[in-house]
Amino acid sequence: MALLRKKKKLYEGKAKVLFEGPEPGTIIQYFKDDATAFNNKKKDIINGKGVLNNRISESIMTHLNRAGIPTHFIKRINMREQLVKKVDIVPIEVIVRNVAAGGICTRLGLTEGDPLPRTLIEFCYKSDELDDPLISDDHIYCFGWVEPYELDEIKIYALRINDILTGLFAAANLQLVDFKIEFGRLQHEDHSEIVLADEISPDSCRLWDLDTKQKLDKDVFRRDLGNLTEAYIDVARRLGIRIDSNKLHEQHEEQE
Ligand code: C5P
Repeated sequence: MALLRKKKKLYEGKAKVLFEGPEPGTIIQYFKDDATAFNNKKKDIINGKGVLNNRISESIMTHLNRAGIPTHFIKRINMREQLVKKVDIVPIEVIVRNVAAGGICTRLGLTEGDPLPRTLIEFCYKSDELDDPLISDDHIYCFGWVEPYELDEIKIYALRINDILTGLFAAANLQLVDFKIEFGRLQHEDHSEIVLADEISPDSCRLWDLDTKQKLDKDVFRRDLGNLTEAYIDVARRLGIRIDSNKLHEQHEEQE
């Protein structure tokens, strides 16, 4: 039997584990089945979620790469893992909204489904202890979390990603209501480059059927609206991803 090389765990988050990659400058991103909402106050294991998000995020990152968005994604390795470039994640969650839903409805008294006057970009400071508080551009400059020119790039990428993904999902009869993305700095010899990092999946997007407005994203879990795995399989199939239901439960061995 082939000897499995032990991988060094670098970080474990709520939905993913990061391991040292096979080459310097690479990382293996492992997708877990854990589902969490309301900053870990609601938790469950949803069989197959990791496999589905790995495939969906691969498909979206590949599409964005082809459209000229620099990303950390290199390739999918197996059902639960992908190889990505090692980046320094900037401590900001970038939220792009097209339609009112979730947090902005609570904060501003909007009705879910209301169209926004234009696409809105929000920033949150990445901190589980603080519940990822909403911040302004000036907080970002004041605390030096990213340089002003980097924030300009992040905003341009966020709007381009929104345009590209709105089209991709519309072709799958899905409305891209909102989504969260993260960026990292990819270190080159003499400069660093802002690239899209983390994942893009129904865990991090709100996706509604264009005709029926049925929710096909993590709100199904947050609000107990039905079977999350079935919703994510529906999204995957609409994106043209072939899903073998028998392989959803495959657990590629996690290693310390
Ligand atoms: O909760 P809220 O309405 O602010 O979320 C906006 C979008 O960002 C949703 O698509 C949600 O799934 C995503 N999000 C996320 N991770 C967070 C916060 C929000 O993926 N920590």
